[in-house]
This record gives sequence, structure tokens and C-alpha cells, in this order.
Amino acid sequence: MKNILITGAVGQIGSELTMKIREIYGGDNVVATTRKSEPTEQIKKTGPFEFIDVTDRKSLEAVCDKYNIDSIINMAAILSAIGEQKPMLAWDVNMNGLINVLEVARERKMERVLVPSSIAVFGPETPQVDTPQETVLKPTTMYGVTKVSGELLGDYYVNKYGLDVRGLRYPGIISHETLPGGGTTDYAVEIFYEALKNKKYTCFVKEDTKLPMMYMPDCIKSTVDLFQADFDTLKHHSDFNVGGMSFTVKDLADEIKKHIPDFEIEYKPDYRQDIADSWPDSVDDSAAREEWGWKPSYDLSAMVKDMLENLKKKL
Ligand code: SER
Repeated sequence: MKNILITGAVGQIGSELTMKIREIYGGDNVVATTRKSEPTEQIKKTGPFEFIDVTDRKSLEAVCDKYNIDSIINMAAILSAIGEQKPMLAWDVNMNGLINVLEVARERKMERVLVPSSIAVFGPETPQVDTPQETVLKPTTMYGVTKVSGELLGDYYVNKYGLDVRGLRYPGIISHETLPGGGTTDYAVEIFYEALKNKKYTCFVKEDTKLPMMYMPDCIKSTVDLFQADFDTLKHHSDFNVGGMSFTVKDLADEIKKHIPDFEIEYKPDYRQDIADSWPDSVDDSAAREEWGWKPSYDLSAMVKDMLENLKKKL
């Protein structure tokens, strides 16, 4: 992997992943791209940056050819909550964008493509506790539909064309650098900002809502570890379950109260409750552990302590 292109490089995960991938492979060799958001100074200063829209194949091809790209990390996606408001946009970016990435990679005989998936591939009929790697995939959101299709498409390109495509099912991702945008698990980030700024948060899902979550350092580690794993050790390709921690909103609020005793939380569930209810409480990630050595570092209390320390400095 000499010349790597990252789409969605200005997003919650993309912005931090880009910096890590540049640290490993060299800034000049990692092209950060996004559709329209302005990149941070840090992204602009540490390596090449280009605007591309994954749904516009020509813009993707031009940048791949300009930089002689041999690997793509496709972080561009519309998440679950926006996806329910704009299902056609979610389909367009997540499916038409993905097939463009895969076709451009196939035609140029690229070395590797990484495409994240999500716990959104699961649905109400999936076992909710320790959700197995192989299980019912009948999501009820457009985001989930596109992520299941994306996994199948990734595996299709592996089997049909021998293109090295890999992906992992991210849980909710908690971070303090770049805000998430348009996901159902965004409450687990918003709560920290509100706790520090106003000592009060109104949560859009109920207090007993339990979802699998992961702190950004673990998210970056899992992505890099899978990106670098030896192809021959992989039995799965586009659909690895990855676990970090699992907690209810109440568990999270109680942990925050240990640091901010007068923090208060109230609950006003909206349409995102149904989405959250359709997803697992926790996942079984033994395939990721066995095939590429996955092991998370952060639990709830370590994550909360680190989030509050970092956000206090930032705010
Ligand atoms: N964080 C995502 C969402 O809530 C799940 O992958 O949509």
C-alpha cells in the first residue's frame, strides 16, 4: 500500500483515521478526500487533499489516477438517522458510491479496499445479546440495508475478481475531536458536551437503551489492524463484528455523575428509539479476535475519564 486514498476524511472517524494512516504510511502518500466539508488545517498541512464525490465516478477516477492510488479506505457514508430522513441519499452515497469505489479499484487492479460496515446490519429478528458473527441480517433502516448490501458486494468482489476487500461492523463510536453526524448513537457523544457545558442532557433514546460502543482509539486501532492484516489469515472479509464495550444510557450517565455529581439527564425518545431498539446490546467478536488479533483497550470508566479530560481542555 504505497498510495492510499481516504474518502469521508473530514468525518468523525475519517478525520482521526487519516492522521493515523499518514503517520504510518507518510503524509504525502495518503490523499484525504471529502465531498464538500472544509478540512481542518491539520488535514490540509499534513498531506494532499482533494474534493471528490464518491457518487461521481469521474471525480474518483481522476484523483486515483493523479496520485497513482493503489488502496482505498472508503469512509464516506450517510448514517442511520439521516438515512431515515433521506433514504434515497443514503442509497446513493452508500451503494452507488461503494460500487464506484469497487469498480475503480477493480479496473486499476488495486491492492486493497477497506469499507466499514456497522451494527446497523442487524435487525429486530437478530439475537440481541452477544450477537453472533453469522446471524440473521434483516435490518429495518435504509442505512442497514445499504450496509448489508455493501458487505455482500465486498465479498462478491473478493470471490469473483480476487480484489482484496475488507470491512468491520463498527458499533457506536465515541470521540472528542470531530463530532459524529446523523447517527443514532450520537447521544453517547452529545451527552459529554452537554454535561460539561450545561450539566444537563435531554437524551433522544430511553435510559435502558443498551448498545455496543467503542472509544475512538480502539476504533482507529481496529481499522488499522484489519487494514494491515495478512489476507491469507482472513476467513471473513467484509463483515467482522468488533466489540468494545456495551452500556445503557443510564450506565453512561451514572459514570459521568462520578465526575460531575450535579449532572442531570432526562429522556425524550424520538424516531431514533426504534432504530436503537432494532440493534444488538452486544456483539460476539471472536472471529476478529481469532483472524486478526482484535482486542479492545477501553472500558466504560476508562473511556468516560478520558473523554471528560480531553473535552474539558477543548471547551
Ligand atoms: N453510529 C452509527 C449510527 O448510529 C452506527 O454505525 O448510525
